[in-house]
Amino acid sequence: MSMTNEQKGERRITARTGILGLLGHPVGHSLSPCLQNGLAEFMGTDQCYLAYDVEPSDLEKAVEGAHALGMSGLNVTVPHKQAVREFLLKEDEVAARIGAVNTLKRREGGWKGYNTDVSGFLRACDSDGVELKGKKIVLLGAGGAAYAVLYGILSREPKRVLIYNRSVDRAQALQDHMREHFPETDLSVAFNLQELLEKMSRAGDGWVAVQTTSLGMYPETESKAVEDPAFYELLECGVDIVFNPAETAFMKAVRAAGPDKKAYNGLKMLLFQGVRSFEIWNDVSVPDEVALELLGRMRAELDAMN
Ligand code: ATR
Repeated sequence: MSMTNEQKGERRITARTGILGLLGHPVGHSLSPCLQNGLAEFMGTDQCYLAYDVEPSDLEKAVEGAHALGMSGLNVTVPHKQAVREFLLKEDEVAARIGAVNTLKRREGGWKGYNTDVSGFLRACDSDGVELKGKKIVLLGAGGAAYAVLYGILSREPKRVLIYNRSVDRAQALQDHMREHFPETDLSVAFNLQELLEKMSRAGDGWVAVQTTSLGMYPETESKAVEDPAFYELLECGVDIVFNPAETAFMKAVRAAGPDKKAYNGLKMLLFQGVRSFEIWNDVSVPDEVALELLGRMRAELDAMN
C-alpha cells in the first residue's frame, strides 16, 4: 500500500494553503519557520510559514499588504513588537497591558494583536517544574523581554520580586508599569549589586532568578548580568531566556554554585510562545507531547546555524 504525502512527512503546497509569516529585522536566524512548519505538519494543518525581513519604515505597508494578500496570521519580532500596535484593529488585554504584540490574527478588515511571550514563559516554567507562586524572584534586566516575563511572574502571585538592571531608570520604569496592574505584590528595584545582594541575603536563600538581558547570547557567550558567585549561592533555580548557546554563562554559574541548583535556557519559552501563536491562529490546543517533539528539531536547526 502506498503512503500518502502526509504519512511520508511531505506537505504539498496548493492554491488553498494558508500563508503565515514572521515580520522582523533581521530574521535570518529565526527558529520560528522550523517550529511553525513543524507544528503544521504534526497537527495536520494546511499552512506554510515564512520569514520576512521588514525595515521599520516599511512595517505599516507590510502589515497591510499581508492582510491584502489574505495571510491568516503573523508573528512580529524585534524591532517591531511595540511599533506594530499602531496598525491593529484590536488588541488582546494582556498585549495592551504589556505594551507589546508578537502575534497577529486575521480579522475582517484588519488584525487583532496578542502577546504570547507571557504564556510561552509560563508554560515553559510549568513544563520544567519551575514554581513561581509564593517564591522570592529576582528579575535580571528591564528591556522589552522583561515586560512579558515579569507580567507572567506577577500573574502567578510570587512572595516578592526584586528587579536588577544595569540602567536603574529602566528598572524603575518597569516597576512603575507593573505596579499599576499588580498593586498588591511586593515589587522593588535594587539600585546596585551591593543592594541586590544585601536584600537577597536578608531574605535568605531559595531565590528563583529569571535572566532577561541579552547578555551571554551567541557569539558573546562569556558575559552575564551578575558576576559575583555570592548571588548564585542564594538561588534555588535560574531561568535564562537566552537559548543560544544551550548552556549559557548564567546557567553555568547557577550550576557551579551547587549540585542541587537547577538551570534552564530559553528554548522552551520560544517553543511555547510559538505554540500559543499556532493555537490562536487555528483555534486548537497543541498537546505538550507534540510541542516537545519539536524541541529536538529546533536544537538541530540551531546547531546547523552556528
Ligand atoms: P530591548 O530591545 O529588549 O529593550 P536591549 O535594549 O538590548 O533590548 O536590552 C535588553 C536588556 O539587556 C536590558 O535590560 C539591558 O540593560 P539596560 O537597560 O541597562 O540597557 C540589558 N543589557 C544589554 N547589554 C548589556 C550589558 N552590556 N550589560 C548589562 N546589561 C545589558
